[in-house]
Amino acid sequence: GLKIATIGGGSSYTPELIEGFIKRYEELPVRELWLVDIPEGKEKLEIVGALAKRMVKKAGLPIQIFLTMDRRQALRDADFVTTQFRVGLLEARAKDERIPLKYGVLGQETNGPGGLFKGLRTIPVILDICSEMEQMCPNAWLINFTNPAGMVTEAVLRYSSIKKVVGLCNVPIGMEMGVSKLLDVDHSRVSISFAGLNHMVYGLDVFVDGISVKEKLIEMITGADSSPSVQNIVALGWEPQFLKALNVLPCPYHQYYYKTRDMVEKEIKNAETVGTRAEVVKELEAQLFELYRDPELMIKPPQLEKRGGAYYSDAAVRLISSIYNDKRDIQPVNTVNNGAISSLPADSAVEISAVITKDGPKPIAVGDLPIAVRGLVQQIKSFERVAAEAAVTGDYQTALLAMTINPLVASDRIGKQILDEMLIAHRNDLPQF
Ligand code: NAD
Ligand code: G6P
Ligand code: MN
Ligand code: MN
Repeated sequence: GLKIATIGGGSSYTPELIEGFIKRYEELPVRELWLVDIPEGKEKLEIVGALAKRMVKKAGLPIQIFLTMDRRQALRDADFVTTQFRVGLLEARAKDERIPLKYGVLGQETNGPGGLFKGLRTIPVILDICSEMEQMCPNAWLINFTNPAGMVTEAVLRYSSIKKVVGLCNVPIGMEMGVSKLLDVDHSRVSISFAGLNHMVYGLDVFVDGISVKEKLIEMITGADSSPSVQNIVALGWEPQFLKALNVLPCPYHQYYYKTRDMVEKEIKNAETVGTRAEVVKELEAQLFELYRDPELMIKPPQLEKRGGAYYSDAAVRLISSIYNDKRDIQPVNTVNNGAISSLPADSAVEISAVITKDGPKPIAVGDLPIAVRGLVQQIKSFERVAAEAAVTGDYQTALLAMTINPLVASDRIGKQILDEMLIAHRNDLPQF
């Protein structure tokens, strides 16, 4: 049987993961699941851990669930390590979202200054986990879900000795689900050839039963209601002529780059009315944990669908199963490029459709990205790499460089003001600075 260790086990998404392991138990015999958290997360861990135990009991499966603050013990001899932690908790996310807005710059969990600071807080922790993995479970796979997932995967590849790492995001699956809904076909018939970076991924082509429907789809997704999105991003709709000219399927996060003004205005309005996303999520989370406390609850409650991470468990568990079973099916993942996208460095992390084998993902080569999107993708990769370097070195100038070359900041003067304010606001979670 398999041993899985999940870091950040107190997450409200944990029931998703449990549901995934239960559904696929026949092909993926999980014997031990260790949920790890920190003292601040102890209460959440206990509530969600108790629900997890009720879920496997109801399913009648011999999956043992352990709750612990002892990460090393959880990692010992693990086969797969999944990570879903949030350094600084939602309080830190709220700062990432609010501070940039004061300067007229987007405040978002994984993009712009917020994404930079989430990376600066997270990368030292993931690198600690990697060194513990070297000692406790050197053969394990690290399945990283922690955001910014692309930058974090890049940092693991570049600054740790862990090579068996895959970064995961639910956006590509969400796009496939959105397409299958729009076209009213079962999702198993839809496949998208993905290439790009995390939260900057494009559908280069879209197929139903192997036949391209890209052009038809591009006509269909211009409206705000019809553009597939995730719960945490409002779809504003696209200029039809722009999308036709772009000629690839954008992901919801591309709105921050192709509709920057509109998105910043929208965020400012939200912050003044309903609150930033972190503030909304705080409420949602409180409601979810109220439900989780109910000893009668034995399943993942549908209210979890209000969070942005829909299909997370499908993504995580089908990936683990395909590695374990050497399935060689195609899944979108963050993995080392290895030449698959010629426009990006061979040793960098990319988000791409890949064949999933027992030796990991083998990305499907796409050659160069179309010229219209190539530059933006390369710029974001430069940003991710400089940001990862800043996270590792704690060097102020490198952090300012990352901040300023991010296309959503684009001013050294304003970038410096945001950087200085955020360094102070987050000082307790940034020991390297
Ligand atoms: P959350 O705020 O519920 O945090 C999860 C848990 O992490 C908490 O219980 C917290 O106590 C714990 N934690 C904090 N620091 C820790 C540390 N150093 N070690 C171990 N545990 C620690 O967060 P969430 O909303 O469940 O999201 C978790 C993470 O997953 C975030 O980084 C989020 O951005 C990411 N996420 C990624 C995707 C994706 O597409 N890749 C989708 C959804 C969420
Ligand atoms: C999306 C993204 C995740 C992100 C999440 C936010 O699905 O893929 O990377 O973390 O939504 O959701 P939330 O409910 O926390 O705003
Ligand atoms: Mn994501
Ligand atoms: Mn599919």
